Amino acid sequence: MTLSFQLNGDRVDVTEVAPTTTLLDWLRIEQGLTGTKEGCNEGDCGACTVMVTDETGPKALNACILFLPQLQGKSVTTVEGLKLPDGALHPVQQAMVDQHGSQCGFCTPGFVMSMATAQITGEADHDLTLAGNLCRCTGYAPIIRAAESAMAQPVPDHLPKTFRMPEEAENIAFQPKSSDELASWYAANPDARLVAGATDLGLDVTKGMRDLGQVAFLNRCADLKQIEVTEEEIRIGAMVTFSELLPVIEPLHPGFGAMLRRFASVQIRNAATVGGNIANGSPIGDSPPALIALGAQLHLRHADNRRTLDLQDFFLDYGKQDRAKGEFVEAISIPRQPDRLACYKLSKRADQDISAVCGCFSITVEEGRVASARIAFGGMAGTPKRATAVEAAITGQPWDESILAKAAPAWAKDFQPLTDMRATADYRLKAARNMLERYLLADLGQATNIAEVSA
Ligand SMILES: Cc1cc2nc3c(=O)[nH]c(=O)nc-3n(C[C@H](O)[C@H](O)[C@H](O)COP(=O)(O)OP(=O)(O)OC[C@H]3O[C@@H](n4cnc5c(N)ncnc54)[C@H](O)[C@@H]3O)c2cc1C
Ligand code: FES
Ligand code: FES
Repeated sequence: MTLSFQLNGDRVDVTEVAPTTTLLDWLRIEQGLTGTKEGCNEGDCGACTVMVTDETGPKALNACILFLPQLQGKSVTTVEGLKLPDGALHPVQQAMVDQHGSQCGFCTPGFVMSMATAQITGEADHDLTLAGNLCRCTGYAPIIRAAESAMAQPVPDHLPKTFRMPEEAENIAFQPKSSDELASWYAANPDARLVAGATDLGLDVTKGMRDLGQVAFLNRCADLKQIEVTEEEIRIGAMVTFSELLPVIEPLHPGFGAMLRRFASVQIRNAATVGGNIANGSPIGDSPPALIALGAQLHLRHADNRRTLDLQDFFLDYGKQDRAKGEFVEAISIPRQPDRLACYKLSKRADQDISAVCGCFSITVEEGRVASARIAFGGMAGTPKRATAVEAAITGQPWDESILAKAAPAWAKDFQPLTDMRATADYRLKAARNMLERYLLADLGQATNIAEVSA
């Protein structure tokens, strides 16, 4: 495998390295750049945050679950490359000193990389930009003060604002440039693993200690990264990340947007793709319930054959999806519709946490009665699943509090959830019922005493 990218301003050509080598290991072991820290090695703590810049701008990413081929042609800045050319501290570093934002210092390189990225992009909501960085000793108030004061400083010139390497090394790790190229290769190599954002697969390597075998990286398939919004549909390429989806979906379906702001952290949303969140078949993935409630369709491709199915039908059973060998997710499309979507993600922490239950509701009402209902849940079964019995029980019924009693017996027909470390079965069923009540009361404009977590 040969690949080239820029590291702290200098071109590097990497050869003879396994394609699933993580950037973190390569930096620390091969380059001796130990400023980037290893905390959890699974994307949770942000100690390994680096800035990766491509033609769309800089992004904070977790180096621990980033494979080297994902960097092809991009620019990587680590904490060692942050200081100004004259050796002075970068404004975010100086602000951390001035605001007493660091004690043991282990988390500090990760924090300053997130802050330096936010300083360039101008994203000033630091509860959001720093949600993926954990600090165990300082406390967050001084860190947030440092981030705020750094935003007022000029952005240093030496960090790239956009980047694409003009001449790249010939890359012999398989990295197709289009879905056509991917389709023929994957049909001929159906046992290969497809790597999208690697926020799941990275953990297979760093925590599962698995050898992924033959891999193909999809990050250069430009056509899989498109989002098209027409009068009929929103078509989302499989390689669109959640950071890219957010600004498009939020104006159309604000409830989806609000839920995505609580999907993992900025670093993970910058890497994690919509296609990966579906293809992994997880029963607790957050986007499938929202997409199913919106009536999304899934577009699959095998060689030159394409097929489309309702997203809900893709999930056959726990760990089993309707996807043949050599077939891949090309896109997801959502029919345009008046917004009736609400998404309720219940997790133990507000940020950077997996859902115990994620309920998504899209119910239309005509002349005081339910005209149509699409309700889908994550965390309630072995797959993301529609509440078809509840939908049937409420369709045609008056849209008032009497509907809750009509729905009540149907919940247990739809779901027999598990008890696990995130929640008991009883809690999950009660929470699901309460979500319908919350949706109803919000829609009727009646006050509830729900306390949202806020910073
Ligand atoms: C710290 C952390 C927090 C997280 N928080 C959340 C959260 O809040 N909510 C949530 O839902 N998830 C969460 N996740 C899980 C993960 O980020 C998502 O599932 C993500 O969307 C996976 O996408 P990816 O591009 O990273 O997939 P990858 O890891 O690259 O791939 C995942 C699987 O999908 C397959 N695949 C990928 N793309 C395709 C394709 N186009 N066609 C066919 N197969 C494909 C891969 O082969 C692999 O089997 C979290 C993960 C981490 C590490
Ligand atoms: S080491 Fe914790 S996110 Fe990478
Ligand atoms: S300063 Fe010690 S973990 Fe943040």
